[in-house]
Amino acid sequence: MISYKEKIADILDPQIEGLGKEEIVAMIESPADSKMGDYALPCFKLAKILRKAPPMIAKSIAEAIEGEAIFEKVESVNAYVNMFVSKAEFAGAVVGDVLEKGDAYGRSDLGAGRKVIVEYSSPNIAKPFHIGHIRSTVIGNSIYKIYDFLGYDTIRINHLGDYGTQFGKMICAYRRWGNREDVIKAPIKSLLSYYTKFHEESEKDPRLEDEARAIFTRLEHGEKEEMELWQWFRDESLKEFNRVYDMLGITFDSYAGESFYSDKMPRFVKELEEKGLLEEDKGANIVRLDEYDLPPALITKSDGSTLYITRDIAAAVYRKEHYDFYKNIYVVASQQNLHFQQWIQIVELLGYDWARDCVHIPFGLVSMEDGTMSTREGRVIFLEDVLNRAVEQTKQIIREKNVNTENIEETAKEVGIGAVVFNELSNYRIKDYVFSWDNVLNFEGETGPYVQYTHARACSILRNAGEEIVAKAKAGFDAKYITSETAHTLSKLIYEFPDVIVEAGEKYEPSIVTRHVVDMAQAFNKFYHDEHILVEDEAEKVAKVALVIAARTAIKNGLGLLGMKAPEKM
Ligand code: ARG
Repeated sequence: MISYKEKIADILDPQIEGLGKEEIVAMIESPADSKMGDYALPCFKLAKILRKAPPMIAKSIAEAIEGEAIFEKVESVNAYVNMFVSKAEFAGAVVGDVLEKGDAYGRSDLGAGRKVIVEYSSPNIAKPFHIGHIRSTVIGNSIYKIYDFLGYDTIRINHLGDYGTQFGKMICAYRRWGNREDVIKAPIKSLLSYYTKFHEESEKDPRLEDEARAIFTRLEHGEKEEMELWQWFRDESLKEFNRVYDMLGITFDSYAGESFYSDKMPRFVKELEEKGLLEEDKGANIVRLDEYDLPPALITKSDGSTLYITRDIAAAVYRKEHYDFYKNIYVVASQQNLHFQQWIQIVELLGYDWARDCVHIPFGLVSMEDGTMSTREGRVIFLEDVLNRAVEQTKQIIREKNVNTENIEETAKEVGIGAVVFNELSNYRIKDYVFSWDNVLNFEGETGPYVQYTHARACSILRNAGEEIVAKAKAGFDAKYITSETAHTLSKLIYEFPDVIVEAGEKYEPSIVTRHVVDMAQAFNKFYHDEHILVEDEAEKVAKVALVIAARTAIKNGLGLLGMKAPEKM
């Protein structure tokens, strides 16, 4: 696909002495108001180079280029050159390109040959997989899809929280108050209840803490009985997590979590020591980071055990050595900002020049309408329950609305879960948001169901058009029939889609894709309402159907990047 900005820059180049083509490309704007043209050149900056008043410059540039075939009209308004592209040529190029590329429309090879790790979800085993985890899980999955679409070689890692002194407590509690059947029936709920009981009891009897510590030491030394219990807790927890991942259609390439690094840490403790970075503090080892305005980081406790941060240092180096990443992305809540600042700084101090290729992508909090969830008070909202409820409610809506579908179960799943995912990706990730059922499942707002419904509507138009017309559209069409303002607005949004993906990747911001998908859906619906698509005249019908195919394709690819399905009937 040709780049219109580049094409225009080629035309402008001879008019603007002293600026290179790249600089001109960067100056060209896409005005939000279409009355100012499809593209505009502000001439303020040119005043110095061309030594004339900006409106004069705009006027002479406009006159010089207005005859070019790619323009329908060129105007100068004050200091701006407003350029209107020839709509037929534009629609022909854009729609033709989408029809040719199909599912690959928007794909690129920008990242070819470069490995990007996306670490996301990363829940703690034997702990609830709650609504708060939706954020890392869904945002991370979308970032992975965006990077994959941009041609990067991607690796998805679930850095499970499966190690630490709490497992000593859990094993201790299980032995005292647990039972096997309950764990098999409801692993996380049962393990959590033992863990809570441990905390209650250890307040009365502090000796329990010593017992737990001893058990953890046995686990660290790989003693068979403790290892087996730990492995079993991990397996059962993963089964539960995987039910949710299945619902969301999410998979990982690696589940190497914290425990994976348990034997890889001594090397870094030694490296830190050799570099003179380690300082003893009451038997513990710390790294001072005062120079970087950060509090000291605790690397080993006085009993020699390592910490969360030590494992992150080991994990980063392992990943570099094992995968040789170009970027190592961590999709983790903003509450952990300090943690990431500290360990990335330490990796840099160790002399690893790739330290800043590790990027923390933070996000804000989610809370429920009826107050935040709190693990301590037991008011946990399980993610699985939220997804199930979304599917159930969608089923009801489908029945009430007489939605056109052959398989209610399947459609309710795609729409209900899609609705939750879309809602999650609708705001800038850094913002806190409140989960509201009314917003999520609204079929009319800027929601997942609305976009999916728009996609299904496009599919329905294509079914009504019939295979023959669809085949003709794919073979060629006369773009003069799709030059109305509404058609042009739609074509423009479709044209921008590939750039939107690049921007979303650069900013690690799936909401940019979400926003654009909504814009495309709204523009499509306007086109659908304003124009008669399946008209008598075959040439006109074929051209309009071509635009419908293009819109459908772009919307579907966009939904795919968010991790959503695009049902064909709804
Ligand atoms: N398991 C941690 C938690 O639930 C998140 C892990 C984030 N990843 C990392 N490499 N530290 O808070």
